[in-house]
Amino acid sequence: MSEPLTKLAYQAFHQGKSYFGLAHKALSTQFLNLVAHPPEQRASPIPVELLLKIQKRLTKINETDWQDAEKGIYPASLLLENDWQDFFRHYPLLWFDMPATWERANQKRYQEFSQDVDTSIYPSYYTQNFHHQTDGYLSEWSANLYDVQVDILFNGAADAMRRRVLAPLKQGLQTFSNLDPRQVRVLDVASGTGRTLKFIRSMLPKASLHGVDLSSAYLRKANQHLSQQSGELPQLIQANAEELPYLDNYFHGTTCVFLFHELPPAVRQQVINECFRVTKPGGVFVICDSIQLSDSPEMAPVMDSFAAMFHEPYYRHYASDDLVSRLQDAGFTTVTEEVHFMSKYLIAHKPIATEQQANKIAEAAIT
Ligand SMILES: C[S@@+](CC[C@H](N)C(=O)[O-])C[C@H]1O[C@@H](n2cnc3c(N)ncnc32)[C@H](O)[C@@H]1O
Repeated sequence: MSEPLTKLAYQAFHQGKSYFGLAHKALSTQFLNLVAHPPEQRASPIPVELLLKIQKRLTKINETDWQDAEKGIYPASLLLENDWQDFFRHYPLLWFDMPATWERANQKRYQEFSQDVDTSIYPSYYTQNFHHQTDGYLSEWSANLYDVQVDILFNGAADAMRRRVLAPLKQGLQTFSNLDPRQVRVLDVASGTGRTLKFIRSMLPKASLHGVDLSSAYLRKANQHLSQQSGELPQLIQANAEELPYLDNYFHGTTCVFLFHELPPAVRQQVINECFRVTKPGGVFVICDSIQLSDSPEMAPVMDSFAAMFHEPYYRHYASDDLVSRLQDAGFTTVTEEVHFMSKYLIAHKPIATEQQANKIAEAAIT
């Protein structure tokens, strides 16, 4: 396919996904007004000027996605990547699930799980129906619906948002360019259904990839997605990101997508500390999460609406949290920030020798 045609196909693909997301939201609201109790009006409508700004940001992230593929950061085939079979199998279930989800939201039932879900083994902050999702993150049903829901929420741009971690990750790994690509190790924390790992695998076909998540159902779904891809299967482990089951200084690169807004403040810090511990000196840690008030003050009504409409108990604190300070407190240096569409990115580097290590070395030299 010639380049203009490819770009046209790409634009059509993303516009289609965006219209699909908008149409779904409009139709589902009408449907729910018919079959369920109308949802409480818990947030003010977003002003039209702001909606236009969001639309502009959407166009821009898709353009950046295209440009990064053009620059060869990752294969252009990723731009048109979508598991249609999975999507069409599970999209109807979203409609089936909707009345119960909205009833749960209206009745403010935030910790409701199927009887066969054992919640006792998880931290209490985690056993929530985040976004009012049926079973929270703790069932196959939830894992099957998650990608569809997130893509609709972001008008088809969820993957373009995740892919924005790829350029800073690749750039950060340059520090280790003398290594055989097979020796490079990358960890994705809270890997969910494995979409970020899938993109990293396409960009780094030989690297050793690892993913960790608390949900066994999401890990199974990730395994299903990732095993369809060529190359070594990423190693997935069920674990709490507060206590990562890896050695100190093990990974050349660490990523984390859409986790921090779902953690209480102290846990947020603990997970950052753990990401620091497992990242090698000289390595890079890339976070992708929601925009915050500090980088996008004009989007305050959208952030407010998100917190009001979805069950996101830690989001309001997250929106004004100082993540740069948290990263620095953990020991990271040279933290840079980027904003794309409705996400922000923090790119943090672990110094070649931390102060602690330098002190230890100095102490050892004296004794
Ligand atoms: C919003 S989802 C993001 C998933 C994925 N990164 C993505 O891009 O879609 C949050 C994920 O974090 C996981 N999670 C939440 N708290 C965790 C913790 N303390 N340790 C490990 N995983 C956790 C959840 O199981 C879920 O898969």
